[in-house]
Amino acid sequence: QTIPVLTIDGPSGSGKGTISRAVADRLGWHYLDSGALYRAVGLAAAWEGLDLSDAEAVANCAARTDIRFETAGEGEPRVIVNGKDATRLIRTETAGAAASAIAAHPQVRAALVALQHGFRRAPGLVADGRDMGTVIFPDARWKVFLTASAEERAKRRHKQLKEKGVSVTLAGLLNEIAARDERDASRSVAPLKPAQDAVVVDSTGTPIHEVVERVLAVLPEQL
Ligand code: C5P
Repeated sequence: QTIPVLTIDGPSGSGKGTISRAVADRLGWHYLDSGALYRAVGLAAAWEGLDLSDAEAVANCAARTDIRFETAGEGEPRVIVNGKDATRLIRTETAGAAASAIAAHPQVRAALVALQHGFRRAPGLVADGRDMGTVIFPDARWKVFLTASAEERAKRRHKQLKEKGVSVTLAGLLNEIAARDERDASRSVAPLKPAQDAVVVDSTGTPIHEVVERVLAVLPEQL
């Protein structure tokens, strides 16, 4: 009997993180935030002063980087990178850009496969990312592709940044998001696209609790 996996893939700003965590909580399953792994490696590579376009060097760094998730009561788990608390750092725009740059190297992606497979533990796993259903867990029992219109994702991001005191224009954000979507969907390695057997859930204009219900509805009730 293989350990069940629910994959939730989709573009940034689709609400994947929040939804996946809530779904994992409801099921009492483990949660893999694969984006955090790419962000952590991006940071570690930057700390070492590596050239992020040097695929071999960054892949080596990925293999050496110690990444731990520590859950302490409520809220998001702390992310410890090489012994340093990087919980806040990995969420910065700089770390996001570094993650996106290093994630384009096949060698880096390969270096993170075993680590990701290690999250598959009983009673089950909710895996959140871009290629969870297509590359990392192709045998997952359930696959969801979570989307939202580019406008809605830009608005959500705008709100988040405003709360953090960062001022950017909505139009600028929309352009950035459209450009990143294009880059992620057209890259040759692990492009962002729904797995053939994925259920597409569009969260545009839908409150979080309702999206959570729609994702849970993909699983059989008796689970
Ligand atoms: O999901 P998050 O925004 O944290 O991901 C950061 C970056 O890591 C993404 O922009 C994407 O380029 C990369 N990523 C990836 N494959 C994954 C998860 C994230 O390429 N499974």
